[in-house]
Amino acid sequence: MQKPLLFTPLKLRGVTAPNRCVVSPMVQYRANDGQVNDYHLVHLGKFALGKFGIVFTENCAIEPRGRVTQGDLGMWDDSQIEGHKRLVRFLKQEGALAATQITHSGRKGSTPRSFDKPGQLGPEGAGWQKWQTVGPSELPADKGWMIPRQLEASDIDDLVRKFGEAAKRADAAGYDVIEIHGAHGYLLAQFLSPISNKRNDQYGGDRAGRMRFPLAAAKAVREGWPQHKPMFIRVSTVDGAGGWEVEDTVVFARALKELGVDVIDCSSGGLTGLSTALPVKRSLGFQVPFAAAVKREAGISTMAVGLILDGPQAEAILQAGDADLIAIGRQALYDPFWAVHAAQELGCDGDFEMWTPEYGWWLDKRKNNLVGLKK
Ligand SMILES: Cc1cc2nc3c(=O)[nH]c(=O)nc-3n(C[C@H](O)[C@H](O)[C@H](O)COP(=O)(O)O)c2cc1C
Repeated sequence: MQKPLLFTPLKLRGVTAPNRCVVSPMVQYRANDGQVNDYHLVHLGKFALGKFGIVFTENCAIEPRGRVTQGDLGMWDDSQIEGHKRLVRFLKQEGALAATQITHSGRKGSTPRSFDKPGQLGPEGAGWQKWQTVGPSELPADKGWMIPRQLEASDIDDLVRKFGEAAKRADAAGYDVIEIHGAHGYLLAQFLSPISNKRNDQYGGDRAGRMRFPLAAAKAVREGWPQHKPMFIRVSTVDGAGGWEVEDTVVFARALKELGVDVIDCSSGGLTGLSTALPVKRSLGFQVPFAAAVKREAGISTMAVGLILDGPQAEAILQAGDADLIAIGRQALYDPFWAVHAAQELGCDGDFEMWTPEYGWWLDKRKNNLVGLKK
């Protein structure tokens, strides 16, 4: 039997993912001062034991005010490298590629945890800090949200430098893959969309102007990130508010490819606050057509994400040539052993050989004990 594509290794520049199963970045609000701690090690370590080929950390801010909540991880200070190193060491020891996502929240920063209260602003007294957010223009993400301070051109230069410095720290920590978070209405997405970007300087106006800062950030990351390591960017393929559409993403992706970006991680939506209607109707694999369009039109590898639930669904996406990698978010929270379970669903690991042997040997032995037993 031919090996499923999902479990065929993928070479990306000088590194090879052992399979195409990726843990999507998922923020946990458990950091203090952006530092990795035991929680992150155990939370992400599970996925490496579950044999995901690439394990992403949550979004790591390039400066403190670029966090979404005060509990987000950081990549803004050299003191944060040690904690990341410990995490990376474990992920790699268990066979996964260690990946991180760097970000700036822009006008969508200073929020409480999503399960505390929808919307924005650490409520005073709830122990959550509040800070002045920044953005391309003085436009809040939604009604009741903070009005961001408009970034000056000199602030943008500074942020470009910080993206590059964050990439250097990620490299020093040993990560194999870096992703820029350019989606979900965070700072770079705010610049891309004409709905949030009303500037009339070189960073606004037409599409080329609105792409200028995100492209400069991507260039700085590529320059700070070793040539042999792959770089991804997550985009909202459509911003969900009618300002940025698939055609725009294709143009953006072509420019990113020129700069040395290897994979476009195709998400969608999030430009405005939580009150707006969902940009794309939710159905299984609802964002896969975006990954397919970008891959086809821009000639670049893509990662599909969003309501991908099991091995056969993931394999069908790869077989159709719609994407090169499959990112799993909530289904990985539900089942940290998603990858090895998917392998069994696809009939390619009946003997538990993909599992870590400390588990797999016993499970295989038990399999034989179970033959003929009835409950
Ligand atoms: C708890 C949680 C935290 C998330 N944090 C991030 C994040 O840090 N960066 C990001 O790009 N997306 C984040 N997302 C979005 C996921 O990466 C993913 O795109 C989304 O959940 C859809 O995929 P799914 O249907 O497989 O969950 C988060 C999602 C969840 C559920």
